[in-house]
Amino acid sequence: MAIKRIAVLTTGGDAPGMNAAIRAVVRYATNKNIEVMGVFRGWWGLINEEMKLFNHRSVAGIINQGGTILKTQRCHEFDTEEGLMRAYENVKKHGIEGLVVIGGDGSFRAALRFYKKFGVNAIGIPASIDNDINGVYTTIGSDTAINTALAAIDNIRDTATSMERIFVVEVMGRHSGFIALQVALAAGCEDVIIPEKKYDLNEICHSIVNGNLRGKISWIIVVAEGAGHAPDIARQITEITTLETRAVVLGHIQRGGRPTAFSRTLALRLGEAAVECLIKGETAKVVSSRDGQIILVPLETATEKKEYKEYKADEIYNLIKSLT
Ligand code: F6P
Repeated sequence: MAIKRIAVLTTGGDAPGMNAAIRAVVRYATNKNIEVMGVFRGWWGLINEEMKLFNHRSVAGIINQGGTILKTQRCHEFDTEEGLMRAYENVKKHGIEGLVVIGGDGSFRAALRFYKKFGVNAIGIPASIDNDINGVYTTIGSDTAINTALAAIDNIRDTATSMERIFVVEVMGRHSGFIALQVALAAGCEDVIIPEKKYDLNEICHSIVNGNLRGKISWIIVVAEGAGHAPDIARQITEITTLETRAVVLGHIQRGGRPTAFSRTLALRLGEAAVECLIKGETAKVVSSRDGQIILVPLETATEKKEYKEYKADEIYNLIKSLT
């Protein structure tokens, strides 16, 4: 039987392009005569019945906006039996036949728990600047975050060169060095420190001192937040090398801003694909794009730890080192 009503929500850390995904879900579904409930503040909104019927116009003018018009949060209440039960009551009350969950691996873990407990179907759309979702080649927002960090590091390069200093720049990535590697390569940084790879600060300092003896005057070292903190690393570099070092923590500016064309088009394609999945009766999947084709990843797989080799970390790392 054809589905009549679905709901869409954004959960976990926001990512630029989430709005484009919401737009695609709402427009594609309503064009197929499927009603869409917009749920506010992620799982919290499902538990607390904060949702409303969206129409074509509800998502007008948002394609170019960062963040999410649905708001988002990390909801611990959904980890409890009571929270799950209340959410289920609301799903039944509003006749919701499937969920589109836009978020990261934590969001998908919650969706899987809900599906296993009550059979509420969920299709995930991967959106996270960290690009750390297993089986998913690229997440919505990661391209924008890389470009935001890149613009900041290009600016830092000007002052680093002018004042002949070392900079340690911390980028986001709790468990993943994806942003750090991409941005270090694109910005021509001298070194990169990521959570997936052991590093030796003495070795890094040794190459700085050697370079300095040859007349090299400035360095930019990118560190992913999961591997260490820029102020600590900068202080140690000064202690070991005696060279002037500054630390910059880019922080949440990487999460905001206008989504790039890549983040938007990915979001629009995945939004359509998610609704198609619900129409076709696919259950508990994440939609993803690989080599230009839409692929479906089981929620079970998407919630496992992402393999470090999946984003060719070693290759990128070696390339950065061989171009220094
Ligand atoms: O969404 C992913 C992420 O941006 C991580 O890179 C970062 O560690 C975390 O979220 C920060 O979370 P919060 O905004 O809750 O402090």
